[in-house]
Amino acid sequence: MPGTRRYKSGMSVERLAALISDHQPCVVLTGAGVSTESGIPDFRSPGGIWARYDPMEYATIEAFRRDPAKVWDFYARRFEVLENAQPNAAHHVLAALERGGYVEAIVTQNVDRLHELAGSQNVIEVHGSIRTSSCLACGERATFDEVVAMLERAPAPSCPRCGSIMKPDVVMFGELLPEGAIERASELARRARLLLVVGSSLNVYPIADLLQDTLLAGGKLAIVNRESTPYDELAELTIRASAGETLSHVARRLLV
Ligand code: APR
Ligand code: ZN
Repeated sequence: MPGTRRYKSGMSVERLAALISDHQPCVVLTGAGVSTESGIPDFRSPGGIWARYDPMEYATIEAFRRDPAKVWDFYARRFEVLENAQPNAAHHVLAALERGGYVEAIVTQNVDRLHELAGSQNVIEVHGSIRTSSCLACGERATFDEVVAMLERAPAPSCPRCGSIMKPDVVMFGELLPEGAIERASELARRARLLLVVGSSLNVYPIADLLQDTLLAGGKLAIVNRESTPYDELAELTIRASAGETLSHVARRLLV
């Protein structure tokens, strides 16, 4: 019977480990909450990024076309934080669960590359990534390190080929998701017998629709998130705790 199970923490981790083990394939959907323990603020927690920056001013494609230098003022700070960020226990456990055959793929809303840095192989970055930036005028691409170097000399990176201001290859509000990403993610969600959500408020579409894809195909949901989400009542299990600690306990039960 779905619904929020309020187990004592030990029991809920046992239950999560059993759900993962008994419901294969298990696909994981991560959000910014999986990276906060790496020092990267999330968006909608109290004091999160959107409490300090208006997303309509800094995170829409219209805002970028209107005032790219202002949007880069926001992204230059993000790049600075992301430049030295390292995967935390949650990322490492998810990579180990993939190696151990318990996780088929990670669909991530994050652009920070930390799943890849932790060793996860099958990662679908549905909101793009900071790995590259592109020139909207001529298509020239620059790597993260090239853009960081450009930001040391100017407030916004200029295209080395045509001089236009480049755009980070992250999906801004009002943009389409990367070609094929939502199709691949939706196919994985439909095939998943368990969709494990880690660190997402599940506020943003179309990604939150993946949970419906899993449920409609007869799969189950488990949610590890510090705060409640709109999908808690539909989940087989919800654990209101830190991603790193919870997944580390799961790893001790499944991977030793
Ligand atoms: N452990 C577990 N949960 C956590 C942790 C943690 N260490 N830290 C934060 N959380 C939870 C918060 O309680 C919050 O509900 O993670 C959730 C993060 O939610 P958001 O900040 O809304 O991030 P996300 O769901 O990834 O946002 C989706 O919105 O702004 C866009 O493009 C942006 O990809 C982002 C998308
Ligand atoms: Zn150019």
